[in-house]
Amino acid sequence: MKILNFGSLNLDYVYEVEHFVQPGETLSAASQTVKAGGKGLNQSIALRRAGAEVWHAGCMGTGGETLVERLQKDGVHTDYIRPVPTLQGNAVIQVNAQGENCILLFGGSNQCVTEAQIDETISAFAPGDWLLLQNEVNLVDRMLEKAAEKGLVIALNPSPFDNKLDAVDYGKLSWLLMNEIEAEQLTGETDPAAAWAALHGRYPQLSVLITLGVKGSMAWHVQKGTIETHFQPAFPVQAVDTTAAGDTYTGYFFSGLMEGRNLKQCMDRATRASAIAVTRPGAADSIPDKNEVDAGGNMQ
Ligand code: RIB
Repeated sequence: MKILNFGSLNLDYVYEVEHFVQPGETLSAASQTVKAGGKGLNQSIALRRAGAEVWHAGCMGTGGETLVERLQKDGVHTDYIRPVPTLQGNAVIQVNAQGENCILLFGGSNQCVTEAQIDETISAFAPGDWLLLQNEVNLVDRMLEKAAEKGLVIALNPSPFDNKLDAVDYGKLSWLLMNEIEAEQLTGETDPAAAWAALHGRYPQLSVLITLGVKGSMAWHVQKGTIETHFQPAFPVQAVDTTAAGDTYTGYFFSGLMEGRNLKQCMDRATRASAIAVTRPGAADSIPDKNEVDAGGNMQ
């Protein structure tokens, strides 16, 4: 079983700051680094480090060669990444003294996916293979339509949440994985259980996982007419940089499902992986390998 991740590649320009810059303020950063990132790239690396065989599809713009090399070094297949004559997608990320971040995104090359690229890429996959999507590339609705026609199992992380997602047919998804803010943006419900109920009423086949930050995560897995529910508490750690914590969780969670692990095992492992990721700086750089995650450390 293969997994295709059709998603973004970003150069992350990361600035270490005491606090986030305010309107009208000029602030000096303590350090600046350029790192590999993008929700797509991070999730492909997390899937791979968790043990999945991953094909990443997307667009490489000018300056993006190092991002493709980075995927290849991790063992991610890059056959479906196309070069485009546009500036590479990038993100300006401030990380404050508490390890929180704020991100300014420039789509660039990530907005250059064509219908022909989607059709050609998806035709190379077979019924039962998985497709993972986020919302940092264009034409997500088309990717979903074509993958559904082909019988792929489709998971969406609707992040960043914006009105492009209005075109998406959620009824064609198997899984929706999002944080509690995105769940509220999608359903209008602040309570995760109410958000699930609203989604289940509209899309009875859809399984949902909502991450709850330091509280943990909650999932509702619909399978053969039954609904399995699980709450997974987070592990308390000292956060240095929370960038890509959600991407790490996403990659580990879906890799676990593809391996046939049960819901509780998948959520426990994804939570361990993201707890390790937040103790390190950077996006892709912070994602742990499965050996480290499975060794467990002293997380209780
Ligand atoms: O989820 C983290 C990612 O969001 C960063 O790597 C940045 O590129 C933005 O896409």
